[in-house]
Amino acid sequence: MPTVLVTGGNGYIGSHTVISLFENGYDVVIADNLSNSKMEVQNRLEKITGKRFKFYNVDCCDTDALRKVFEENKIDSIIHFAGLKAVGESVRMPLEYYSNNIGSMISVCKLMTEFGVNKLVFSSSATVYGESEDVPFTEESPLGMCTNPYGWTKWMLEQILRDYAKATPEKKICLLRYFNPVGAHESGLIGEDPRGIPNNLFPYISKVAAGTLDCLTIFGDDYNTPDGTCIRDYIHVVDLAKGHVKAIEFLDKTEDPICLFNLGTGHGTSVKEAIKAFEKACGHEINHVIGPRRPGDIAVSFASTEKAEKLLGFKAEYGIDEMCSTCWKWQTMNPDGLKD
Ligand code: NAD
Ligand code: UFG
Repeated sequence: MPTVLVTGGNGYIGSHTVISLFENGYDVVIADNLSNSKMEVQNRLEKITGKRFKFYNVDCCDTDALRKVFEENKIDSIIHFAGLKAVGESVRMPLEYYSNNIGSMISVCKLMTEFGVNKLVFSSSATVYGESEDVPFTEESPLGMCTNPYGWTKWMLEQILRDYAKATPEKKICLLRYFNPVGAHESGLIGEDPRGIPNNLFPYISKVAAGTLDCLTIFGDDYNTPDGTCIRDYIHVVDLAKGHVKAIEFLDKTEDPICLFNLGTGHGTSVKEAIKAFEKACGHEINHVIGPRRPGDIAVSFASTEKAEKLLGFKAEYGIDEMCSTCWKWQTMNPDGLKD
């Protein structure tokens, strides 16, 4: 049974991916420093899968500490989720973002070289496309100027991995550009568990629906879109997780040292449409007001899914209704998130 090291495997996307890997016959080892997740996730994963995964509480930037994971396990491939991801925080704390996100990736690459691990999947983001009227974004769309340090770390890490792949052709590296991951596992046992007041739309809507927050502010309704609000390609986190299994399978057969795929649904949903869909899921209205635009937001972003469909055999199955219903189930089963 091949073993996948999942860094950041205790986090939102990582934990769902651990389940998909397990369901597809992989063994999983998790390395996470719990900087943005709670240890309770491991209990939840055990409830869902019946298996206790090997877990290392380790900072991936600490190469010596991470080396132990490679020494104690025969790692076949790596999915690297470990990183900080809050856009606003990255503007306030750029050095933490550059050192954590770039430091952890370099540390992982050094150990890949040292231990002869040849397959890597990296979590990139649609944020690297920047502003363009030319949607859907294909993998060949030009990269834009990022509007925040978080986005730049993804942009830079893609370049670092291209350089690393060029220098080590025996390595197979897959860059995955996620669009907007939302929703939760159907069990309601794991989901997105942000600390403090959420920045992203779905966690915010959930808290308003639950009555924990009073009112959602729609950031601008004067965009050049049919209802004036921004359009995004929301993708169910369980679909996204499955995309990672497809990526690992692809790395087993490709000859190319580096490959790149969008992971989205190919469908855009406006903020107003997302609110409507959530109201249907929770059965009542979501209190909202229109506010000013949020700096850095682009009007429209959605993926071209052609390449992932053709080469990975990946197609998202769930729509906005399942995204909302699972998000709501997670929220109602865990009104205060997971305990520390
Ligand atoms: P998350 O914060 O829930 O998960 C990240 C996990 O990594 C957390 O458990 C955190 O404790 C851990 N971590 C952070 N730095 C670490 C380090 N130095 N060493 C060990 N562990 C560390 O975030 P997520 O939403 O699951 O995102 C996973 C990855 O996907 C991130 O790289 C993120 O940038 C990327 N991504 C996320 C989105 C999104 O909207 N959620 C979109 C595009 C890309
Ligand atoms: N929005 C609101 N009110 C809120 C929160 C969000 O109107 O309280 C709007 C935003 O203006 C945007 C849409 O909802 O139009 C989605 O916003 P999110 O913050 O949920 O997501 P973004 O598209 O801004 O960014 C997310 C991640 C990025 C990632 C990007 C692409 O935060 O890190 O998706 O994957 F790069």
